[in-house]
Amino acid sequence: MINVIHTGEALCELKKLADKTCHCCVTSVPYFNLRDYGHKEQIGLEKTPEEYVQKLVAIFGEVKRVLRDDGTLWLNIGDSYNGSGKAKGDKTVQNRVQVSNRASHATNPTKIDGLKAKDLIGIPWMLAFALRNDGWYLRQDIIWQKPNPMPESVTDRCTKSHEYIFLLSKSNKYYFDSKAIAEPVENTKPNHDNQTQKTELRPQRYGGKKYTANPDVFCRTKSGNAYDYRPYRNKRSVWTCPTANFKDAHFAVYPEKLILPCIKAGCPEGGIVLDPFMGSGTTAVVARKLNRNYIGIELQPKNVEIANKRIRNELGLFE
Ligand SMILES: C[S@@+](CC[C@H](N)C(=O)[O-])C[C@H]1O[C@@H](n2cnc3c(N)ncnc32)[C@H](O)[C@@H]1O
Repeated sequence: MINVIHTGEALCELKKLADKTCHCCVTSVPYFNLRDYGHKEQIGLEKTPEEYVQKLVAIFGEVKRVLRDDGTLWLNIGDSYNGSGKAKGDKTVQNRVQVSNRASHATNPTKIDGLKAKDLIGIPWMLAFALRNDGWYLRQDIIWQKPNPMPESVTDRCTKSHEYIFLLSKSNKYYFDSKAIAEPVENTKPNHDNQTQKTELRPQRYGGKKYTANPDVFCRTKSGNAYDYRPYRNKRSVWTCPTANFKDAHFAVYPEKLILPCIKAGCPEGGIVLDPFMGSGTTAVVARKLNRNYIGIELQPKNVEIANKRIRNELGLFE
């Protein structure tokens, strides 16, 4: 059952998976009222944010069951603005909900009851709090900062250039390999930097070079001739990463680089990463590149085809 993408609805397919099998779940959920994936069982075209959140809480309840007790959930989600609701018959959703940095191809032009036009909906935090109420430990809001956001024609607020990655855990103690994602401190001398963590690092690749572990923070290159004087520190919670496209996918994909740290910190080598909204297969590709396994679910058969082709092309694997 590993290294397979199951075609079907997330809740239904998750119910077929065994308890406590996956190390972590890394996923990006369909956006609220932004896109019509053309399937009656799709998530995202609910009438209210509450209904949307309720459906996702049920799905992530099943994810919790499938995760090991020390498992984590890394959940990427962006926010949206309520629209004016004036564009009856408009095939886009621009007048209902405006989401920065995403193309809009959803169908329902009416505005959300109870919200004023131009209100930020707060979808990410609505979902985060609902998951916390459902028993998840809400551990961190990581900001995905985009250096190349979509331009917006707004002049009464800033251009939105971020989304969230929420880190949630099933238990209060959980697997989290902070050393695997420790970041080099640029342009500082270790002995003069109070923030330096004096911990032993595993061999890591940075800039194509492999550095061997060194308990004194200094890292020596493999050849042993030159020193890398960068110290390392605990990874920070703002992650800067350009957006990425995958040519065959007509929906938002997340960049491989964005989820590298989630998988490195959340799953040991040989472990299993779950993604119930697999889309174009980014989670699967990164998991395999990092010597982890994946279990995927995706509603649209054509997306499963796209993802499997991508996995074959990028990894030379036949799965
Ligand atoms: C935001 S995209 C995921 C993109 C993915 N992270 C990537 O990088 O390619 C969300 C995906 O969820 C799928 N989807 C929507 N509703 C679903 C449901 N109820 N069950 C399973 N998949 C669903 C959509 O078809 C879409 O491919």
